[in-house]
Amino acid sequence: MTSTESLAARDAVHQWHPYTQHAIEREPLAVVRASGAELELADGRVLIDAISSWWTSLHGHGEPRLIDAMTQQAQRLDHVLFAGATHEPAVALGEELLAVTPPGLNRIFFSDNGSTAIEVALKMAFQRHVLEGHEARRVFVGLEGSYHGDTFGAMAVGDPDPFFAPFAPLLFEVRRTKPCASALESVLDELGPRAAGVLLEPLVQGAGGMRMHDADFLRAARRMTRARGLPLIADEVMTGFGRTGALFACGKAGIEPDLMCLAKGLTGGLLPMAATLATESYYEAFLSEDRGRAFFHGHSFTGHPIGCAVARASLALALENDVPSRLDAIGARIESRVRAGLEGSPQARDLRRTGGIVAFDLVDPAGGHAGYLAARTPALRRRAADRGVLLRPLGNVVYAMPPACLGPEQADQIADAMLDLADPR
Ligand SMILES: Cc1ncc(COP(=O)(O)O)c(C=O)c1O
Repeated sequence: MTSTESLAARDAVHQWHPYTQHAIEREPLAVVRASGAELELADGRVLIDAISSWWTSLHGHGEPRLIDAMTQQAQRLDHVLFAGATHEPAVALGEELLAVTPPGLNRIFFSDNGSTAIEVALKMAFQRHVLEGHEARRVFVGLEGSYHGDTFGAMAVGDPDPFFAPFAPLLFEVRRTKPCASALESVLDELGPRAAGVLLEPLVQGAGGMRMHDADFLRAARRMTRARGLPLIADEVMTGFGRTGALFACGKAGIEPDLMCLAKGLTGGLLPMAATLATESYYEAFLSEDRGRAFFHGHSFTGHPIGCAVARASLALALENDVPSRLDAIGARIESRVRAGLEGSPQARDLRRTGGIVAFDLVDPAGGHAGYLAARTPALRRRAADRGVLLRPLGNVVYAMPPACLGPEQADQIADAMLDLADPR
């Protein structure tokens, strides 16, 4: 047995992987090491991590500044509860992050991952309505094809197709529209006093297929929600920290959300950590002599000192290295090579890019299922791995979102692997 086989065999005994149909997807990549943009496998192969390990690795793997921040903080203060206690890493991270996020946001509430950041935002929005006597405001509005995570609130606001259909009977009511100002206006008008707020992934909707919309729509959504006294909740879990070529998609679009969710790149991808940012008016709405009007939410690891220390180091590095511009340049290079290679190809359509995110849709010659559950997706992943690149097409959507440390040759290798997937052979 090679070490790869033995790890895969042992994995098959006890492990249950996320988003994996184990009956047909039997061969996980056995990864032994990661450095920069590369993953080293147990069988000696090296793959370029073209999707930043589910969009988390911002600078690249094994970034020394982040590892230093982690080890130094672990030696000083490993963890302490965040109710009734505080510490320097959390306080400083709040100061530093709120200095670079859209104006108006002035409060930070920590949690553990993107889904919990969304739960926090939904609960803040709804509890505020209740506190202000608007209990009827309980229907959130989202976008078609949106994805906000896998916990119940996040599933409810996400598009049920195809991930959440089995849970539909348990999910609260949500209305969905296309990213189009008039469509959003009609839904908000129709809901009237039942509308709770608008939640969206600004500029790029990730898991729904790297769908891109323009900033005008976001500005219209901001105007409409403000005019109706409704919160605009920006899910920047994926788009945050430079992915769109600006530090935050909301900043790029020039909008100021009431609530904003961050995770993934918050720690540069090193540790699980999330934050929900809120305006001062949100915070003030919960202030009272009555303890029962507090925001009742918290996790064991809320405000984890090591996560906060790493997030501070990651933000400092993102600013020093101008990560948004780097990602933008990487995206432009991949896009131009893919565009040249796809010239006249009937196999691909709608090549698109926002910052460091490049995507196109495959045309399935057999006319098979085009969505996330497309039968050929596992084969496409294997084909990319054979070319030394880790890609995970979202159904028929081939995309790249690499880390900022990516070199030009690696960018070209990613582009070539993407092109290979569009080759019908
Ligand atoms: C836009 C968006 N929101 C929320 C989430 C959920 O984040 P997590 O997987 O950390 O729970 C994701 C994850 O991909 C995401 O892309």
